[in-house]
Amino acid sequence: MLITVGSLKGQPAVTTTALGLAAVLSAGARVLLVEADPSGGDLASNFRVPIAPGLVELASQTSTLVSGVDAAVLERFTRRLPAGGGVSAIVAPPAGSRTVAAVAVVAVGRGRVLRQPDVTVVADVGRVSPASAAWPLMEAADRMVLMMRGRLGDLAHLHGLLPELLAAVGGRLTIVLCAGGGGYRPAQVTDSVHTAVREAGLPSLCPPVWGPLPHDETTARMLAGERKPHKKWRHTPLMRALDELAADLTRQPAATGGGR
Ligand SMILES: Nc1ncnc2c1ncn2[C@@H]1O[C@H](COP(=O)(O)OP(=O)(O)O)[C@@H](O)[C@H]1O
Ligand SMILES: [Mg+2]
Repeated sequence: MLITVGSLKGQPAVTTTALGLAAVLSAGARVLLVEADPSGGDLASNFRVPIAPGLVELASQTSTLVSGVDAAVLERFTRRLPAGGGVSAIVAPPAGSRTVAAVAVVAVGRGRVLRQPDVTVVADVGRVSPASAAWPLMEAADRMVLMMRGRLGDLAHLHGLLPELLAAVGGRLTIVLCAGGGGYRPAQVTDSVHTAVREAGLPSLCPPVWGPLPHDETTARMLAGERKPHKKWRHTPLMRALDELAADLTRQPAATGGGR
């Protein structure tokens, strides 16, 4: 299954949330976190692990990609990050056109390269836009998480993006309000989302609105590589919330025919 996590605008904790989801899911399944954010990765520098071999090197194996990759090949490009109980990740360079090109390559064919049987892939796709190199991954996702703040600017962006996003992602979208959400209450955001969905002419595709996620600096710092995880890392406020979100996301895989 493929879960994409992206942002509407600003920095609403996409990388933190993708890694947190990967950490809680890793406790019960095989999980691969992929930094597919065309604007660059953060995990290698946050956790002080080598960038190569990672996403760029995987994408450069074009002959292997054509014939298909198996778990053993993907493993060569994978790092083990000390977050939660440990997370397997394919990391990307912090910026540059090579990163954009690599994201485009792994996104080809509905992310076929990244998918393995019985592996849950969580992809950090950065900012959500139809112009993004990661857009085909978002279209192919079984579930997509869109992170945003409950602010006027975010709602305006959402109204602009929703018609195309719903056309691409359909009923597989979940909107998640980030910590410190902004001026609007979740119910007001939900109302605004419903209005946008009706305006888009797709009332049956109303996405659920989650959150806001709890403000939890201790866990956020652990997920940013600034603190070591402690034994009870799953019992912090942010991890509990992400545990619930992860359970919801994996409850109905490909409910509306997402990834193949
Ligand atoms: N729930 C949270 N509580 C407190 N700080 C958070 C939380 N989530 C993320 N942060 C902090 O917010 C900043 C941006 O998060 P990040 O995940 O890198 O955002 P993005 O990927 O959207 O740019 C980081 O410093 C991160 O530690
Ligand atoms: Mg990020």
